[in-house]
Amino acid sequence: MTARLLRGRTLTFHRAPLAIDDTAAWTYEEDGGLLLVDGVIAAAGPYATVKAAAPGDAEEVDHRPHLLLPGLIDMHLHFPQMQVIGSYAANLLEWLNTYTFPEECRFVESAHAARIATHFFDEMIRHGTTTAVAYCSVHKTSADAFFAEAMRRNMRMVAGKVMMDRNAPQGLLDTAELGYDETRAVIAEWHGKGRNHVAITPRFAITSTPEQMSAAQALAAEFPDLHIQTHLSENRDEIDFTCSLYPEAADYTDIYARYGLMGPKTLFGHAIHLSERERDAMSETGSVAVHCPTSNLFLGSGLFPLKELARRDKPVRIGVATDIGGGSSYSMLRSMDEAYKIQQLLGERLNPMESFYLMTRGNAEALSLVDRIGTLEAGSDADIVVLSMRATPAMALKAEVVTTLAEELFLMQTMGDDRTIVETYVAGEPLKAAL
Ligand code: GUN
Ligand code: ZN
Repeated sequence: MTARLLRGRTLTFHRAPLAIDDTAAWTYEEDGGLLLVDGVIAAAGPYATVKAAAPGDAEEVDHRPHLLLPGLIDMHLHFPQMQVIGSYAANLLEWLNTYTFPEECRFVESAHAARIATHFFDEMIRHGTTTAVAYCSVHKTSADAFFAEAMRRNMRMVAGKVMMDRNAPQGLLDTAELGYDETRAVIAEWHGKGRNHVAITPRFAITSTPEQMSAAQALAAEFPDLHIQTHLSENRDEIDFTCSLYPEAADYTDIYARYGLMGPKTLFGHAIHLSERERDAMSETGSVAVHCPTSNLFLGSGLFPLKELARRDKPVRIGVATDIGGGSSYSMLRSMDEAYKIQQLLGERLNPMESFYLMTRGNAEALSLVDRIGTLEAGSDADIVVLSMRATPAMALKAEVVTTLAEELFLMQTMGDDRTIVETYVAGEPLKAAL
């Protein structure tokens, strides 16, 4: 048994905060303790209480005055796009065809996939992201490299081999049958191994024929517990092209509905330009809209109506993500800074308590994994991030006038990045210092 006792200021959420002063939505301990035993949080609370319950030989780590949070969760990114970040394009479809598809072709080589997987997990740890939901490439080799590296780091990851059988270069296409067979093989080899979760991953309706959508439907029926991830309603030209490929569907969302791909485990990347009918369909099926702020701004895709979707009579479940490499930062702090600005442009307010809820418990709820990640509750996986609001000279100067927890969080979101992450614990082990 390995036991570690962390001391610091701790913050964990119980539900979505209804306002910046909705203190019942979270627990904050000024002098908190977390006892980590065999990769799990064995006890959490005031330091004195947790210390009294800890085994005498527990290794003690004093992180004061820093803030301890559940590890950050990134609900949507593309691991083969690490070298696509910052590619100069006018819009989504130009960016995909000019840079992204050619780059993803390289992942047929297992040595390349393994090299990028190593960098990918380094960046996750560096940025305090302990769980990510990833697209691999169409090649099974890319999924194998991803999950092997996830196991090596003992991280809880959700990922899938992309299914795509049209409207892309030949080197990036499978077929309806091959996509089905290889997804099944990835599930058999990796799902439930270590902390791995496999997601059924048809890229989007543009790159899947109706036959492949049916194959995805068959996989979803065979493996109802698995996540499904795809893209929806990101860009106006994309929407028009998609609807022209499926003229029988009422709208973009209806395409996925017709193939049985909506539900509480379905994660729709972007979902920016939804009609009221589509919003209702998302809500009624419990499907999740995943907001990717830096990507939406970088590609000029649009302003995601986060607050509007959340407060409807029929609310839409929401996750937040970086969308590397359409997104421009690995940092969930940077992402929520841009999310805040998008709501500002829409005349809405996103308060820092909500932002930090979304990056932790909110995303865990959207993934239906809140029993394992996203909180500091006893029994959860010991995935923990340590943050400093004095990470840079400019932040330290501003920190001199910070007097409340909400101000501290807002400072870290507004000015922070990987430098704000002092340490990242994965299953109880500190991994950032060792990078
Ligand atoms: N739609 C289909 N594929 C992609 C992708 O790789 N990135 C983004 N942003 N949108 C997509
Ligand atoms: Zn994406």
